[in-house]
Amino acid sequence: MADRKKLVAGNWKMNGLRSDGLTLATELARRVRAATGAEQLSCDLLICPPATLLGPVHDAIVGSGIHLGGQDCHPAPKGAFTGDISAEMLADAGCRFVILGHSERRQGHGESDALVREKIGAARRAGLVPIVCVGETLAQRQAREAAAVVVAQLAGSLPERAAGRELIVAYEPVWAIGTGLSASLDDIVAMHAVIRRHLPTEAHILYGGSVNPANAGAILALGDVDGALVGGASLAADSFWAIASSCG
Ligand code: 13P
Repeated sequence: MADRKKLVAGNWKMNGLRSDGLTLATELARRVRAATGAEQLSCDLLICPPATLLGPVHDAIVGSGIHLGGQDCHPAPKGAFTGDISAEMLADAGCRFVILGHSERRQGHGESDALVREKIGAARRAGLVPIVCVGETLAQRQAREAAAVVVAQLAGSLPERAAGRELIVAYEPVWAIGTGLSASLDDIVAMHAVIRRHLPTEAHILYGGSVNPANAGAILALGDVDGALVGGASLAADSFWAIASSCG
């Protein structure tokens, strides 16, 4: 069994102006620094603020051990791509991770598996660890196609040779995102086992979709759940800290 330290990641999405983003990041860094003994987190913490806050949040958490990540990147290192941000720019801003292929980008921006694969290549070129999101819609789950959909997303988006420590997959059922309906523990175990068969043992598999302080303990205790990708509950220090504290 590979030693996979759990990772609790906050995806702030398009939330956070300078003052509230800085307050949140500063408070998390303070808690990490102040924690002693049993209060110390046993997991790694990652926050992925909007691009406008990468610089200020980096300065707020530097030296605390909290990692910084981007929410997306363009495949190219630079060029005439108005509004986009490259993996090199994220690394330059202090990021170690980048979320790729989130369902909100697949659905809202028409991102294909092939494009996600290109972005994974870009992340690696820049020395970033990609967090590749996969997950089925409610209609696909009801049609009993969930596993096939996720396997196809993995096959279409992961590079041929995926070194474990440089790759994270997040299982985020689309119907569980932002709805308050997390997947059942049985469904999470079953899907993570499916995903695990397609990954090296060192690769982390995170669960995302309505993770909150009440359900985090049970989810994070499951085998093959190596952490959580948290949306709404990552926007407040108390709830994000409570989730991270429930890592066993
Ligand atoms: P919620 O935790 O708000 O459901 O969002 C999950 C998510 O999309 C994280 O990437």
